[in-house]
Amino acid sequence: MDTEMGRRPIGVFDSGVGGLTVLKELIRQLPNERYVYFGDMARTPYGTKSKQTVTRFSKQIASFLQSQGVKAIVIACNTASAVALEDIERDFDLPVIGVVKPGAKTAADTTNSGHIGLIGTEACISSGIYESYLQTYRPDVRLTGRACPLFVSLVEEGCIEDPVTTEIARRYLSAFKDTDIDTIIMGCTHFPMIEDTIQRVAGENVRLVNPAYETAKETKILLKENDLLNTEDIPLDEEAYRFYVSDAPERFRRIADLFLPLSISGAKQIHIEDY
Ligand code: DGL
Repeated sequence: MDTEMGRRPIGVFDSGVGGLTVLKELIRQLPNERYVYFGDMARTPYGTKSKQTVTRFSKQIASFLQSQGVKAIVIACNTASAVALEDIERDFDLPVIGVVKPGAKTAADTTNSGHIGLIGTEACISSGIYESYLQTYRPDVRLTGRACPLFVSLVEEGCIEDPVTTEIARRYLSAFKDTDIDTIIMGCTHFPMIEDTIQRVAGENVRLVNPAYETAKETKILLKENDLLNTEDIPLDEEAYRFYVSDAPERFRRIADLFLPLSISGAKQIHIEDY
């Protein structure tokens, strides 16, 4: 392995704190890696914006991450993965991975009834991207989608265990009641933060799919294939985990601290429009 390249960090990004659910799994499966995380707190949510806008934002973030010397990019956002993955793959000379394909693969392997529910942002559901990938894995499955945009704001507000979140979940998930759906894809990286509430409301017979596990697994494979895996031990310091945001660093830190297996001293605010 080229050690210098291997030591470089992996770039991870999302519209806000949601991508931390993917980062958490990356750290678990790839503990020897360094990470640079960017949360676009100033421009969240992405899920209600157009493909052009989300693609422009995503490309700016990819440029920023490239300027930080990353060796690969994980798009830890379903919305950006759905609409901007191809553009980023084309325009950046780096291995890039999104969360949608791994999520579809896990769901196809999980369902017994062949009927899958998908919850996500407006943009992700209407892109039809999960259907396309599911078709390639299991053409016999049916997918019923339900946009759940308020979940994103509730998580960004830190309403993780909250009666309001439960009530909104009841309304959204009523679309799946009295159906043969046995698997629900959490097709937005914010949603695993309220997984307990979603599971309680969906019922114990429904399996929730968090695409993060398979995404981290595929990231490892991709790094191996490109001879980029770091096998050396790393010091667990602020250099190994760097956090950047476009706004609200203190709010970001509070939620990250609740959620990550490490305590972060802070996130640095940058002006993303410069990239
Ligand atoms: N976490 C994101 C996703 O996976 C985006 C949510 C949003 O900004 O609307 O889709």
